[in-house]
Amino acid sequence: MKRQTPKAKLPHGWSGRTLAGIRTKLLNWFDKHKRDLPWRKNRDAYRIWVSEVMLQQTTVAAVEPAFERFVKALPTVEALAKADEQLVLKLWEGLGYYRRARHLHAAAKALMKDHGAKLPDDPDVWAKLPGVGRYILGAVLSQAFDRRLPIVEANSQRVLARLFGYRADPREGEGKAWVWNTAEVILPEKRAGDFNQALMELGALVCVPASPECGKCPLSANCIAKRNGLQEAIPPKKKPPELTTVDEVGVVIRDGKKLLLCQRPGDAGRWQNMWEVPHAPRADGEDIDDAAVRVAKELTGLDVEIGPEVLTIKHSVTRYSITLVCVEATLAGGTFAAGAYAKAKWVKPTELAEYPVSSPQRKLMTALANPSRQRPLF
Ligand code: ADE
Repeated sequence: MKRQTPKAKLPHGWSGRTLAGIRTKLLNWFDKHKRDLPWRKNRDAYRIWVSEVMLQQTTVAAVEPAFERFVKALPTVEALAKADEQLVLKLWEGLGYYRRARHLHAAAKALMKDHGAKLPDDPDVWAKLPGVGRYILGAVLSQAFDRRLPIVEANSQRVLARLFGYRADPREGEGKAWVWNTAEVILPEKRAGDFNQALMELGALVCVPASPECGKCPLSANCIAKRNGLQEAIPPKKKPPELTTVDEVGVVIRDGKKLLLCQRPGDAGRWQNMWEVPHAPRADGEDIDDAAVRVAKELTGLDVEIGPEVLTIKHSVTRYSITLVCVEATLAGGTFAAGAYAKAKWVKPTELAEYPVSSPQRKLMTALANPSRQRPLF
């Protein structure tokens, strides 16, 4: 694909000179104020790609350590392509949205097969990869190869909507088209990757959702929202999603010094191929112990005797607010039957750290493996 030239129309009646001024001011601000983040050390396309996939749904603070861990263990696309999926999932632990990791892994394999170890400077190739949408495509190709491709995420969306005084919702319908068009028009011919990052950085550090620090903003003289006192009203507030509360019970089934760890199926649902202690929602009004016996039987085929509570974990998944009560249980009979789970293993608490698990399950497992527990389980 040829290098793209700007074709979109200006979203606002600003002159080319004003736009040029905005570009220069923002890039100068970025050079001076950008955070020293690990993926900014160089322009290696693989590192940029991994970081942007992580950053798509996770905060910079959570991504930083996970990114370092990931690229240390898997420093190249070749290493990622060859890695076992369990290692990739383990390295992704704590970031959530594990489908991103599976897509990244599948895309690395496809790239290695068709293009070898050098990541291609070709939007057509990237567009066909699993997990690569317009955001990842623009983020990687603008930052690694200086292609003039826009990106839009929550921070840059807010900056652009305020700068141009755009009153409708940039996350919906026509607003989405407006913001992508604007993000493309405003890009400079050179340093498009830095400019994309600068928009995000300004949104993260200065043009924040509530009480933006306009006094520190390099674009405040141009900002139409500021001129009209509308910084807080743009973009319009989104209604928070209504949370559904769910009461779950988790069962730590022990047999001597080991406990049962189950692997979720790899073909459907959340947390595919990851490990956990069996858990499921309680029925309305169902007693915790009764629910634990039922859940153990339904999910594993095992009969258990329920012991005391280990821990209660509160966490949220998408629009569900979950309270997970975890109880101890001892194996009383039966054999494990696959079905709800693909397979299961009896493991020692000290071995739990080796398996990829979700964040709430990691909390439980850290508690189980903690030798200073008041009432040691094992
Ligand atoms: N969010 C997404 N990509 C980012 C980047 N490259 N820098 C800072 N924040 C980001």
